[in-house]
Amino acid sequence: MTTHQPTPQPTPLPSPGRILEIASGYWATGLLAVATQNSLFTHIHHGLTTPADLAHKTGMAPRGLQTLLDGLLGLGLLTTDNGTTYHNTPETDLYLVEGKPTDISGFAQLKLAEMDKLTDRLDIFTTGQPPAGPMVEIADNPHWEKVVTAIAGLSVTAAHTAAEALDIPGRDNLAILDVGGGSGIFSSVWLRLNPTAHTTQLDWEPINNIAQRLLTQHDLADRFTPLNGDFHTTPLPPHTYDIALYSHIAHQESPHNNTHTFTKLRHTLKPHGTLVICDYILDNHRTGPTFPLLFASEMLLKSNTGNTWTRHDYTTWLTQAGYTTITYHPTNTPATLILAQ
Ligand SMILES: C[S@@+](CC[C@H](N)C(=O)[O-])C[C@H]1O[C@@H](n2cnc3c(N)ncnc32)[C@H](O)[C@@H]1O
Repeated sequence: MTTHQPTPQPTPLPSPGRILEIASGYWATGLLAVATQNSLFTHIHHGLTTPADLAHKTGMAPRGLQTLLDGLLGLGLLTTDNGTTYHNTPETDLYLVEGKPTDISGFAQLKLAEMDKLTDRLDIFTTGQPPAGPMVEIADNPHWEKVVTAIAGLSVTAAHTAAEALDIPGRDNLAILDVGGGSGIFSSVWLRLNPTAHTTQLDWEPINNIAQRLLTQHDLADRFTPLNGDFHTTPLPPHTYDIALYSHIAHQESPHNNTHTFTKLRHTLKPHGTLVICDYILDNHRTGPTFPLLFASEMLLKSNTGNTWTRHDYTTWLTQAGYTTITYHPTNTPATLILAQ
């Protein structure tokens, strides 16, 4: 009797598909930028869902519009009903519809504007330094005016998560300091949640003016004080604030500067006050999460000493600065919150 051995199956070869997608990644930036320039997600949100209606509304050629829809579908930014109608995903409906506080369409435009310059700047990986000097360390840099409005929508959800962790709605007469507050989005969210709170924003004057406009639009300017200056050198009064916020700043700063600023903020906090850090934070072995891993390149391009720092880094600096209770809180954005007392 003969026995039949199973024929060995060849190990399947890995597909080159993901590498093709990544190498063609400039199309992801381009498609997102052209879609947001033409308010595509906003039109879909308001009920224009067929290619013909969208081509008519945007003025795009039917061939161009269909190609855009195909690309966005490929990127997972739209869904379709067999190509007849197109729909936003929960993520595009929250973050790419104009008029929503969480809209980050401006971020897509910002990245498109940076894309062509990157080709000549990739030697940052060889030199380890930004090509034309740093951007983030320069006072009154116009870079900030573009960035802070583009990223405001990103911080809305983080501000709500922090408000819950800090019980912002339930506390009386909170005095809050927002260091590098940018657009003023944290102030806007927190002051709306608490009618007796007051925020002071320490930032460059042109940026504080942007924040002042936002707070005025929201009828909150009477509880918002701009403090113009460099947070490294501006003196802060002792034992004054219940909460000090440091959101999306630590990644532009060196370990030494972060430790120094955390110490300075501990002195300006009341004895049981809380320092809140919001940033892209890596796990201790630099293995993830994905966006903080990618964001390190942004800091190599734009800062002398910035990086995405690990939990271990933050815990070390906060401990050196005299904080004894340090907790980490995920948000539903790529940023993590740290509360330190
Ligand atoms: C990435 S934005 C973060 C804005 C805001 N905190 C947020 O999370 O949306 C960085 C902010 O820090 C401010 N900034 C950077 N360096 C500064 C410095 N040395 N002194 C004062 N403000 C500074 C910038 O003007 C900008 O508003």
